[in-house]
Amino acid sequence: MQAVYNATIVEQYELNPLARIIKVRPDSGEVPNFEPGQFTTLGLPLDEEPPKSGPDGKPRVKLIRRAYSMASSNQARDHMEFFMSFVGGGRMTTRLWKRKQGDPIWLSPKVTGEFTLTSVPDGKDLVFVATGTGIAPFVSMIRRYRGTGRWRRAVALVGYRLARDIGYGAELEQVAREDDNFFYVPMVTREPEDSDWRGMRGRVQQALEPKFYEKLVGTPLTPEQSHVFMCGNPAMIDGVQAMLEARGFKAHKLNDPGNIHFERYW
Ligand SMILES: Cc1cc2nc3c(=O)[nH]c(=O)nc-3n(C[C@H](O)[C@H](O)[C@H](O)COP(=O)(O)OP(=O)(O)OC[C@H]3O[C@@H](n4cnc5c(N)ncnc54)[C@H](O)[C@@H]3O)c2cc1C
Ligand SMILES: NC(=O)c1ccc[n+]([C@@H]2O[C@H](COP(=O)([O-])OP(=O)(O)OC[C@H]3O[C@@H](n4cnc5c(N)ncnc54)[C@H](OP(=O)(O)O)[C@@H]3O)[C@@H](O)[C@H]2O)c1
Repeated sequence: MQAVYNATIVEQYELNPLARIIKVRPDSGEVPNFEPGQFTTLGLPLDEEPPKSGPDGKPRVKLIRRAYSMASSNQARDHMEFFMSFVGGGRMTTRLWKRKQGDPIWLSPKVTGEFTLTSVPDGKDLVFVATGTGIAPFVSMIRRYRGTGRWRRAVALVGYRLARDIGYGAELEQVAREDDNFFYVPMVTREPEDSDWRGMRGRVQQALEPKFYEKLVGTPLTPEQSHVFMCGNPAMIDGVQAMLEARGFKAHKLNDPGNIHFERYW
């Protein structure tokens, strides 16, 4: 069994029983090069039983593999970080949730994905719209590029069910305090009315309404000056895309550049 593993969960932080941040270190010590926004694949054996040997005498292990966006900067060279939520009945996450710090895991040596800033010129306004763990690729971009002039302004609008689901909240609030050109709005939809949450309630679309957005950022959201990146729940992506297309934005394609970019998690 040991042979299929090539990496180790070196840190594991539980936000709540259904959401966690893990750091994975390749046993080779070499983190593959990647561009913030890209993803890799993690794998765990389908069967917990010791595997049977194949004709060559090597163990045959069927892996369940799933894609996960890196939350770490590509400048972190000794680990890759991932933000994950538990999917009830999900084949990967039910197995992953039994793992703990120090346990082995399979990490693909390859990274991939087009959900990066590569096609965006310097100095634009970037709007990062996420639900749940969809904040992960934006955390990687912010960690890597904040303070470099890569964007004029960056605006992160993130929807969660509950306040306890918010990942990287303290870190992003800190960035917003230190950088006048970074705006962070976490939003919740299912937080009990009598909780101590003092932030915004509602879905991310509300923060993209022209009046709200302009008051927050101090400038309108226009297709000429802005690129919008969306990640997470596909229903959110469809809804926001329709909203923005009605305002002159256009989906980005490799052979037909636009200013809406998205990564669907399912
Ligand atoms: C490019 C890419 C990057 C991804 N990055 C991340 C990441 O950084 N963090 C992360 O938690 N997940 C991420 N995912 C989702 C991840 O790959 C798995 O689908 C997820 O962990 C569930 O796997 P599972 O085997 O437990 O459930 P499955 O058996 O694969 O899924 C069961 C069903 O749950 C739903 N589902 C899948 N993922 C989610 C989710 N995240 N939230 C709500 N419902 C879901 C779908 O309807 C799916 O059909 C990413 C997916 C893609 C395509
Ligand atoms: N977070 C939890 O407490 C919890 C509990 C049990 C299980 N889970 C499991 O964890 C997985 C991920 O859950 P999650 O809460 O991270 O992700 P999620 O279900 O995508 O919800 C995250 C946020 O996205 C919002 N959203 C949903 N559809 C939208 C749309 N069309 N437009 C805009 N916003 C939209 C949700 O609002 P709405 O609330 O209005 O849908 C919520 O605020 C799921 O499999 C879920 O079953 C989570």
